[in-house]
Amino acid sequence: MQNTIQVIGLKKSYRDLHVLKGVDLEVARGSIFALLGSNGAGKTTVVKILTTLLQQDSGTATVNGFDVVLQPSQVRQSISLTGQFAAVDDILTGRENIVMIARLRHIKHPHQVADDLLRRLGLTAAANRRAATYSGGMRRRLDIAMSLVGESPVIFLDEPTTGLDPEARIEVWNIIKELAASGTTVFLTTQYLEEAEQLANQIAILHEAGLS
Ligand SMILES: Nc1ncnc2c1ncn2[C@@H]1O[C@H](COP(=O)(O)OP(=O)(O)OP(=O)(O)O)[C@@H](O)[C@H]1O
Ligand SMILES: [Mg+2]
Repeated sequence: MQNTIQVIGLKKSYRDLHVLKGVDLEVARGSIFALLGSNGAGKTTVVKILTTLLQQDSGTATVNGFDVVLQPSQVRQSISLTGQFAAVDDILTGRENIVMIARLRHIKHPHQVADDLLRRLGLTAAANRRAATYSGGMRRRLDIAMSLVGESPVIFLDEPTTGLDPEARIEVWNIIKELAASGTTVFLTTQYLEEAEQLANQIAILHEAGLS
């Protein structure tokens, strides 16, 4: 069976800083993959390449069977991304944030989709409050809810639990486990070995970027 994500010999430098020096990885369908690394190790760089936001210098990467460089629009249709920094709009309520994304993605019945996701992520009670009033854990859950609009087969989560308290972290872990159990392939990054061990079927470690 073909892997959902396949990366071979990925290299990326920013001028003299060699961030990725030949990364190989494979992620099976419906599994959770954790990319572990400290600040500056290159986690976001890998996520950006796999989500077509940045082009590698060499090597190949396919996501859902599509090449990230040659078939970027097919890749984008296969994925959703929760970036390292929340995409939540503070002025809008939780529900309005999700409805907005559903409309942008031309999803039918945006209000129904929003209510379903708010329930799944435990945000129903806070649905009509402005996101500005949410706690860190609530914002993160809203951010994840927004990236679940449209039910993509592959989801990328860049440090989904950084800055969360232990309780909120466990809530996010449960959401991630449910996603994988329902067949979604999850690619996440983390700075915490414990988190990778708790969640992932497979772990890869990125070491710090080096100058030459
Ligand atoms: N656009 C850029 N131009 C120059 N250097 C960059 C650029 N983006 C990232 N870098 C550098 O590349 C290295 C890897 O960055 P990256 O954001 O991928 O790390 P990370 O593992 O996601 O770190 P963090 O845990 O802090 O999010 C860092 O040293 C960073 O400063
Ligand atoms: Mg990062």
